Amino acid sequence: MDRSAPKIAILGAGVVGLTVADILQNHLNKANITIIADRFKEDTTSSVAAGIFRPGTSFRGATREITQKWVDDSWLYWQDILKSAESSNAGVMALSSYIFSKENYHVTRNPLIENLVPIYRPVEDEELKICGSDWKYGSYFSTVKTGCDRYLPWVEKRFIAKGGKIVNRKIDSFTDTSLRQYDLVFNCTGLGAKYLCNDYDLVPLRGQIIKVKAPWLKTAFYGDYDTYIIPGLDGVATLGGVRQYDSYSLEVCKHDAAAIWERCCQLLPALRKAEIVAHKVGLRPHRVPVRVEPELIGGLKVVHCYGHGGYGVMCAPGTALHAVKIGQDILKSNVRNKL
Ligand code: FAD
Ligand code: BEZ
Repeated sequence: MDRSAPKIAILGAGVVGLTVADILQNHLNKANITIIADRFKEDTTSSVAAGIFRPGTSFRGATREITQKWVDDSWLYWQDILKSAESSNAGVMALSSYIFSKENYHVTRNPLIENLVPIYRPVEDEELKICGSDWKYGSYFSTVKTGCDRYLPWVEKRFIAKGGKIVNRKIDSFTDTSLRQYDLVFNCTGLGAKYLCNDYDLVPLRGQIIKVKAPWLKTAFYGDYDTYIIPGLDGVATLGGVRQYDSYSLEVCKHDAAAIWERCCQLLPALRKAEIVAHKVGLRPHRVPVRVEPELIGGLKVVHCYGHGGYGVMCAPGTALHAVKIGQDILKSNVRNKL
């Protein structure tokens, strides 16, 4: 161990914490980095996500420019992995998607990615008849998708191979004495930050999905009422969804499951024959804006990176890069009282 290297802790081992760790290792020549978390891999919210790269309108940083930079930087991170021999091991795949609406033209537009992804175009009249009927508006776009079932173990292995350490532990407060040894702490605790930071702006947005075997499905589809069908690398598709504000239940709700199933089968009737392999629930850490900023807490230098809502997989890299830059700056500074 290099004793002159800064000691850094990352709280959280979801997609945000692990991606901060990965980017930090790439940016610092010498570092002594430890991830501290009480849940890993399939026990995180990240593991529930479909992981598609398509931000919604509630995804926001402090300014429009910051949000766009997070999206652009994230796209480049996923593209680098996609173009490497590791893409499949890392769970990253290229994907095209239709988005249809009977209600609202704007639902089918997406200013944050329209000029970023290779294809984003309005559909032809014929394409409006591809699934079901009566669609009034539609777009077709190409994007990427990251399956956290593969990405989390892959990036964790890469972190450990580069000398990173992992500690399984819950942190109840930033005044915890075990944190005193660190020069810098990244707070990537997702919804856990609600309690650690006493943050009333951070709210669970409950989600539920159905996993089905559909190896024949190669394209994603979105419809009205948060309906989506997203294929995966292993032939298992994710069907969703619901967004329930301030709802904490992690139990599978049979009524939500029935509604998701019916809406998805109406969108793509071939799904009725698909075998259901799992029902899952996750609490999205919803906050507007997503919090990426430094704070000095009793002399401890902390960089917060949490509150990504329904877009934490796609935008983990961009927000992580921002957090790492802030972290590098405050590591260099001698400030002890106020940032
Ligand atoms: P988490 O994955 O919850 O990780 C938090 C980590 O912090 C855990 O390791 C936990 O143990 C640790 N932790 C918390 N508190 C403490 C503490 N006090 N002490 C120690 N450790 C602590 N996003 C997309 O980009 N695309 C999608 O298609 C997509 N689909 C989704 C579908 C559903 C149904 C849901 C629910 C979410 C979806 N999301 C999607 C959103 C995405 O899942 C989240 O934004 C993302 O997982 C948040 O990651 P995180 O690392 O911040 O949180
Ligand atoms: C969700 O949060 O349910 C979600 C987010 C992005 C794309 C698809 C689903």
